This record gives sequence, C-alpha cells and structure tokens, in this order.
Amino acid sequence: MLELQNIKPELITRDNATWFQPLFKACFDREELWSQHLGETKYEAFHIGKQAFIFTYTIEEYTDLLTLGVHPDQRKHGLATFLLEWIIAKAPKAQKFFLDVECRNTAAISLYKKIGFEMVSIRKGYYPQSSGPAIDAYVMAYQKPPKTLS
Ligand SMILES: CC(C)(COP(=O)(O)OP(=O)(O)OC[C@H]1O[C@@H](n2cnc3c(N)ncnc32)[C@H](O)[C@@H]1OP(=O)(O)O)[C@@H](O)C(=O)NCCC(=O)NCCS
Repeated sequence: MLELQNIKPELITRDNATWFQPLFKACFDREELWSQHLGETKYEAFHIGKQAFIFTYTIEEYTDLLTLGVHPDQRKHGLATFLLEWIIAKAPKAQKFFLDVECRNTAAISLYKKIGFEMVSIRKGYYPQSSGPAIDAYVMAYQKPPKTLS
C-alpha cells in the first residue's frame, strides 16, 4: 500500500490513458465515459498509479467532480479522501464543487459527507439502468472555506 504522504497524483493524458479503461471497469463494472475529453480545456483527470483516478470539469470558480474511483483491491485506505482533498486544495480559483451520486451508493455518499459535501437536491431517474427503473441521483455541493489571515 502507498504511503499517503508520498503520493503525488499525475495528469491522465491521451498518451498515458491506455490502462485507464480497465481501472474504470474494475471500479464501475461498465465502460468509461470520460476519456474522449482528455486534453480538452476545462477537463482534467488525475491518477494515483493504477489504483485511483478523478475526473473534473471546471468553469471559473465552479468545479464538477465528474467521476472518482479506487480499485477494489485498494479501497478503505484513504485514497479517495486523499484525491478529493488534493483536488479541492490544488485549484486556488475553484471555490465551489458539485457532484452527482447514485442515491444507493452509500460508500460514496459517506465519503463526500466526511469531506464536507452537503446534499442540495435530488435528480429523479438520473441514472438509467439496463433493466428496471432509472436510479435517482443526489446532487451534493462543497464550498471552500474562506482563507483566514494569519
Ligand atoms: C467510493 C470510493 C471512491 C471510496 O474510495 P476509498 O479510497 O475506499 O475511500 P476512503 O478510504 O478514502 O474512505 C473515506 C470514507 O468513505 C466512506 N466509505 C468508503 N468506503 C465505504 C464503504 N464500503 N462503506 C461505507 N462507507 C465507506 C467512509 O466514510 C470512509 O471513512 P472511514 O474510513 O473513516 O470510515 C470507492 O469505494 C469506489 O471507487 N467505489 C466505486 C466507484 C464509485 O462509486 N465512485 C463514486 C462515484 S460518485
């Protein structure tokens, strides 16, 4: 297991993304949706080895957290917490963060609440399923606290 203090997330580019699809599939059990945007302005993706990744979309001071995943073998070691806190800290311009999460994804909801995200709304039937009714999404938001003068 990686020592969290030694981790430096790296940019995912079109050139180094060949291994990304299997990691995404291991995390979500479906094909990935976002890598066609790699290299486009406003989209950014970072990885920690082949263990974890995060995709974001930023306009001005608003960042959407598009997706985040940790390999099943590497979960519950703080990697997702590390990546989220790192993303929030790294972008001085970004002040407000939004995400959608399946209402039944208790692990992710608990993670986001622990970071400080709050539920702001529900999107009914947001996630289509191959069979059965579409699943609702919670919209969650996090406001970066103002910097205190020391
Ligand atoms: C959700 C996910 C990203 C968490 O990654 P992780 O590296 O295991 O998370 P962390 O170790 O940083 O855990 C931080 C907190 O998240 C919550 N959490 C993580 N896994 C959990 C689980 N299986 N059940 C309940 N809460 C969980 C806990 O609050 C945990 O804090 P704690 O360790 O003090 O209990 C990971 O399970 C994953 O990749 N899931 C599949 C993809 C996914 O759902 N992504 C989010 C889409 S919105």
